[in-house]
Amino acid sequence: MSQAAEWAVEALDLVKVYKEGNILAVDRLNLKIGRGEIYALIGANGSGKTTCINILTGILAPTTGVVKVLGMEMPRDRKTISKYVGVAPQEYSVYHDLTVEQNVRFFGRLYGMSNNELERRMEELLQILRLDERRRSVVANLSGGMRRRVSIACALIHNPQLVFFDEATVGIDPVLRAFFWEYFRSLKKQGLTIILTSHVMDEAEKADRIGLIRAGKLIEEGTPKQLKHKHGADTIEEVFIKLSEGKIVDE
Ligand SMILES: Nc1ncnc2c1ncn2[C@@H]1O[C@H](COP(=O)(O)OP(=O)(O)O)[C@@H](O)[C@H]1O
Ligand SMILES: [Mg+2]
Repeated sequence: MSQAAEWAVEALDLVKVYKEGNILAVDRLNLKIGRGEIYALIGANGSGKTTCINILTGILAPTTGVVKVLGMEMPRDRKTISKYVGVAPQEYSVYHDLTVEQNVRFFGRLYGMSNNELERRMEELLQILRLDERRRSVVANLSGGMRRRVSIACALIHNPQLVFFDEATVGIDPVLRAFFWEYFRSLKKQGLTIILTSHVMDEAEKADRIGLIRAGKLIEEGTPKQLKHKHGADTIEEVFIKLSEGKIVDE
């Protein structure tokens, strides 16, 4: 039963080989993410973050390995799992020629929400994410930061228990980034599990726990404090550099 599962996400020995190019994008990756955690998967471009998220959300099948989400098995229970999970993908998933409201409604209906419930929840999200004044604007006319917020509203519309934000805070205004983190904290207080990725190492300082990914491998994991202490570093970026031993892995 989804309510009773100990872990929000369990990934056991995940491997993903892209046949095209014969690329080992995820290399025996193991993850256990607790309920109510804010977990940041951090790594350079091309390290395998998006591939990993796509596998955890059932968009992509792993070459080998097992994925459990909220105690259910992916891809077998994908349909049930998706009722409890929200995703804001790295590439904009919202429709550019639709308005903010139309996008949010589209996702709400996809999840089978009733009209009343959908309108109430949309109202709440548009207020919190400060999108209410642009609700009738076509997404194509919005700034990057606003599009990110629309994407987050679409991911949260059905009150999920677990959300994935793939590079949600990348390239946005620092004030908006601070707002996002404050918002993530408030979602956590409501019991949500948040899994996010970033290639900006120091973004992760605010997460409960960090997984450092490099060439598809999870090379280190822990709280920001633990990692910095263990490696005698002042920042997560410094931890990463120390772990890389001067080797450059290019995508
Ligand atoms: N659809 C695909 N086909 C082939 N190779 C891919 C595909 N998607 C990603 N890759 C490759 O897999 C590796 C990991 O990519 P990705 O998961 O997007 O990393 P990240 O999100 O950390 O930037 C990279 O080498 C990338 O070029
Ligand atoms: Mg990515």
